[in-house]
Amino acid sequence: MKRIALTVLFGMAVVLPPPAFADRMPLPTNTPASYKAECGSCHLAFPPALLSANDWRRTVSGLKDHFGTDAAVDGKNGQEIAAFLERYAGDAGKLGSAGEPPRITQTARFIRKHREISAKTWKDPRIKSAANCEACHRGAAQGNYSEHDISIPELRR
Ligand code: HEC
Ligand code: HEC
Repeated sequence: MKRIALTVLFGMAVVLPPPAFADRMPLPTNTPASYKAECGSCHLAFPPALLSANDWRRTVSGLKDHFGTDAAVDGKNGQEIAAFLERYAGDAGKLGSAGEPPRITQTARFIRKHREISAKTWKDPRIKSAANCEACHRGAAQGNYSEHDISIPELRR
């Protein structure tokens, strides 16, 4: 009996979808090179699951005026990036509104996951911006957001 119950439990664990916010969020293995090149030069090539498809669409359509910079990507690369982001986008309902212009760092989910960080810390010169993921998550480029890999000593558990 016990063994059967365990097998059932195990089977369930295997089919459960991964949580939208886990500590491992590597880019999908088929991420186009254009995404890393065009969207990873000024900041981290953000994990697509952190914005909804609709918010990625809005981001991509506004790239000419992107947070005070021109990040426009034309032609084939532009279409490839848009299709990739929408395909791997996160669930709008779980993420919550991302504001205007859309920001990962404005979603309810991001705010909840970072609620222990004080306003003072966000303004710390080592960090500067909440969008500067790598300031705290030293493994962000490899998709590692574990609480054990935080580079700011005061924030380590
Ligand atoms: C020329 C530099 C540059 C390029 C290229 C660029 N970005 Fe950005 N991006 C910025 C700046 C500047 C910000 C604002 C950062 C901040 O507030 O700290 C930003 C912010 C963002 C944000 C919001 C981050 C947050 O606060 O949650 C997203 C999403 C984003 N960029 C997506 C993209 C995508 C997708 C591409 C590729 C098509 C791209 N960016 C290319 C400069 C760039
Ligand atoms: C000021 C430092 C800081 C910055 C900047 C920051 N984070 Fe975090 N992040 C943390 C800390 C601290 C935690 C909490 C770890 C914990 O308690 O599990 C966390 C948690 C997370 C988690 C949840 C991990 C889990 O175990 O569920 C994810 C995902 C994440 N951050 C992604 C990001 C992304 C993406 C960015 C940039 C857009 C970012 N973070 C910017 C410090 C930061």
